[in-house]
Amino acid sequence: MAEVKASLICGVIAAFLSSAVLAFVEDLDDTFKDTRVNDVWLVDFYAPWCGYCKKLEPVWHEVGMELKSSGSPVRVGKMDATAYSGMASEFGVRGYPTIKLLKGDLAYNYKGPRTKDDIVEFANRVSGPAVRALPSKQMFEHMMKRHDVLFVYVGGESPLREKYNDVASELIVYTYFFSGSEEVLPESLTLPELPAVVVFKDGGYFTYDEYEDGSLSSWVNKERFQGYLQIDGFTLYELGETGKLVAIAVIDEKDPTEESGRLKGLIQRVAKEYREHFNRDFQFGHMDGNDYINSLIMGEVTVPSVIILNTSNEQYFLPSEPIETMEQLVQFISSVLNGSAQAYGGDGIIQRIKRVAFDARSTIMSVFRSSPLLGCFLFGLPLGVISLMCYGICTAESDDGADDMDALKREGLTDEEEEEEEERQRAAELEGPEEGENEEEDVGEKDPEEKKTD
Ligand SMILES: *[C@@H]1O[C@H](CO)[C@@H](O)[C@H](O)[C@H]1NC(C)=O
Ligand SMILES: *[C@@H]1O[C@H](CO)[C@@H](O)[C@H](O)[C@H]1NC(C)=O
Repeated sequence: MAEVKASLICGVIAAFLSSAVLAFVEDLDDTFKDTRVNDVWLVDFYAPWCGYCKKLEPVWHEVGMELKSSGSPVRVGKMDATAYSGMASEFGVRGYPTIKLLKGDLAYNYKGPRTKDDIVEFANRVSGPAVRALPSKQMFEHMMKRHDVLFVYVGGESPLREKYNDVASELIVYTYFFSGSEEVLPESLTLPELPAVVVFKDGGYFTYDEYEDGSLSSWVNKERFQGYLQIDGFTLYELGETGKLVAIAVIDEKDPTEESGRLKGLIQRVAKEYREHFNRDFQFGHMDGNDYINSLIMGEVTVPSVIILNTSNEQYFLPSEPIETMEQLVQFISSVLNGSAQAYGGDGIIQRIKRVAFDARSTIMSVFRSSPLLGCFLFGLPLGVISLMCYGICTAESDDGADDMDALKREGLTDEEEEEEEERQRAAELEGPEEGENEEEDVGEKDPEEKKTD
């Protein structure tokens, strides 16, 4: 009897807990359009069949739990975008999963890593005011400790302030925006005039100059990273959105040789000392290992070495000889800037076809590596059948053999053309970010296996 009672109590507690857990993430349907208006919502648009969506599910629960327990006003929901496709397309959902923060008329896309901390940080940043006030020196110092890059508007009401507000409400997806009076900023700060927009980073500060820097939004976009960064695949994709070229020291951090330390140091120095010359066009950093770069350029870069990438057209530049001095590095960067350096790669048709072949080869290699038997079966069987067919055709004796060959040729030709068209389409699909983890599964996407091996 006691056992029954105990299990009953357990059952009640479990039911209570599970309903509590469910409440952290609300299941949305097509009534959402009307009910959402008064709240800020963080929504996961998913498809039941999509693997990345399933991976996101536990993270999403944690996000819901964390936001609720921290007292955030943001409500967390999920919507089956295949069941409510009309709604999903109204919100501009084109792939799964799509994470959006909806705030009044504005919808912000989340494109960062799909971890709880990153998503919660995004929700807190974007749901708050676009421009946050810095009421005191202490607050400024506190924020300086928390953020590597800090944008601050200094001054009273002005047209610049209005522009700053507009830029902030758009680019809050990337970074925080603050405003304060001169009194809350360090005494060492000297501003030629007020109002001003200043970015604090890299141990100093830089002021926006309308005449030299162009529009405020493009300046913010270019200044939102530290001058020198550790770069991984995801950061590289993000850096690409600034439109800058990326100069990278490719090194092996597990086996730090003197040579890699020196190269890293050189790039760091150029980033700082030549900021005036290169900051507008270049982002600097280092990358651990050459795997990512190799698959990007479909070749092999030596470790350590320096490479400059143009992520907007997939071109890259290599120094003609190993870089030993600061002067050589500066010369190399200048030659890329003035267009005299030899460019490799690119996004032309030949490169795209090469990309398809390269990806196909990596897929085949990875299947063979993980399961040789499956590889033999998958790729060996069709090859065997084709060779048997060829053998049969070649050895077949017939009077009108010539006709057969003609027909074959014609068929072969059209096949090839079809293949090329397919390749072009695939190449076009491959345009997007290469980062597997953050890749969305597009509607009507092909074999998901293929994506994982990217
Ligand atoms: C990088 O690519 C863009 C887009 O094609 C191009 O306009 C720009 O000139 C390229 N930069 C360099 C240095 O080649
Ligand atoms: C480009 O820059 C390099 C390195 O500074 C220099 O040697 C070269 O003469 C320049 N070429 C042009 C066409 O300006």
